[in-house]
Amino acid sequence: MRWSLALAQFVAVLVMWIGGASGVSPINFCQCSKRSLCEPLPEKLQSPMEVLVFDFGGTDYQHYDWSKITAVVIGETFNQHLLCVAHAHNVRVIMKGKIPSNALRNHNTINTWIRQQLDSARTLFFDGIYLEEWQKIKPGTLEYGALTQLINETARVFHRAIPGSQVSIKVPWSPHCGDGPCYDYVPIARSCDFLFVMSIYMQSEMGDECFAKANAPYDYTYSGLSAYINLGIDSRKLVMGVTWYGSDYRCKHFYEPGRCQLEEVSNKEGVCAFHKWTTKPYKDIMLELPKSFTGRYWDDNYKSPYYVYKLTDKYHEVWYDDPESLSLKATIVKKLKLRGLGVWFGNFLNYSVNPTAAMQTEDMWNALCPFRRKWNVWNV
Ligand SMILES: *[C@@H]1O[C@H](CO)[C@@H](O)[C@H](O)[C@H]1NC(C)=O
Ligand SMILES: *[C@@H]1O[C@H](CO)[C@@H](O)[C@H](O)[C@H]1NC(C)=O
Repeated sequence: MRWSLALAQFVAVLVMWIGGASGVSPINFCQCSKRSLCEPLPEKLQSPMEVLVFDFGGTDYQHYDWSKITAVVIGETFNQHLLCVAHAHNVRVIMKGKIPSNALRNHNTINTWIRQQLDSARTLFFDGIYLEEWQKIKPGTLEYGALTQLINETARVFHRAIPGSQVSIKVPWSPHCGDGPCYDYVPIARSCDFLFVMSIYMQSEMGDECFAKANAPYDYTYSGLSAYINLGIDSRKLVMGVTWYGSDYRCKHFYEPGRCQLEEVSNKEGVCAFHKWTTKPYKDIMLELPKSFTGRYWDDNYKSPYYVYKLTDKYHEVWYDDPESLSLKATIVKKLKLRGLGVWFGNFLNYSVNPTAAMQTEDMWNALCPFRRKWNVWNV
C-alpha cells in the first residue's frame, strides 16, 4: 500500500483520539506478515557506523543492498512494506519532520507539533525522526533559541517513548552561515543523536568565477565537516550526506570542458546563478555519458567527474559523483572519525537486471563502505 505522510499523520491523530477515548487502539496498522517485524528496533542494536539512505517511495527498496544500510529515511510518500523488509534486516525506518518554523515562537504549537510527530511514529512503527528546517535562522532571534529547545524536547520525548529511536537534524555543509541557516550547533548536537551534514551545494562559496562547478568538492567537504568538529562537536555526532545525482548546468558560453560559463542572476549584477541546474539521477547519467560530447572527465582539483553534452544548440555540463569520487569522500568518514554517511536517493540507481546497469549499481553501493566491509554486522 502506498501512503503519504500527511495521510498517516491524520490517521495517527484519529487513532490517538479514538484510542484515548476507549483505551484501546481500534485499528492495526501493521502490514507485515509478523507483528514482530513492525516493532521498532531495540536500543541495543547499534551499528559502529551509520549508513542512511533516503527513499521517496515506489518499490525500488526491494532491490536495496540492506547489508550496507542502518537506516532508511522515508519521504512524503512511502511503501508500507518497506518497513517490514527494513526491520527484517535490522534497519531502522526514519520519518521526516518539517519543523514548523513560523510557529517557533509559540510554545503550545511546538508541543502539539512534537506530540503529533510522536503519535505518527508510534502508530506507523517508525524508529525515529529526521528533522528539517527550511527557514533561515539568525543568532539573536527568538527562533534561534526556540529551535534548540525544540530539538532538545523532540529528542527527549522520542527517546523516552521509543527506546533506541534516532533523532537527527539536517544542517548545511559548513557551520559558517553565509546565506545558509544558522543554528546553535553545539547544544543541538548534544541533545540529538547526530547532525546530518548536507555536504553539497558549495558552489556559491567557491570563488566568484561564474563557471559550472562540482556540487561537493573533496576539500570543501572535508573543511566543512572539520569546522563542525572545531566548534567542539564530537565527530561521532556527525553524518556526511552525499548524492547519487548530478547537477546539469546549461552553459551560457562553452569554452572547453570544465569551462562552462553560467548565466548571472538577472536582477543582481555579478552574482552567478549557481542554483540554476537540474537534478540528474545517476541512472540517467549512466545512460547519457556514453553518448556525451566528451565522455567522463575528471577534475583533480575538485576530485569530481563531469561531462559535456549538447542539446539542440546548447552545451550542458554535468557534475556528479561516481564510485571513484564517492569512495574518496567515504575516506573522510574514517579520517575524521565521523558517525557515518547518508545518501540521497536510493531510488536513483538502475535496479534492472541488465548486467551493465547491475554492475554500475553495485559499485555505487560498495562505494558507501570506506572500510571495505558490510556495516550491518551488529555490535550487540
Ligand atoms: C535540554 O534542555 C534541558 C532544559 O533546558 C536541559 O536541562 C538539558 O541539559 C538539555 N539537554 C541537552 C542534552 O542539552
Ligand atoms: C537501466 O539500464 C539499462 C541498460 O543500460 C537501460 O536499458 C534501462 O533503460 C535503464 N533503466 C532505467 C530506469 O534507467
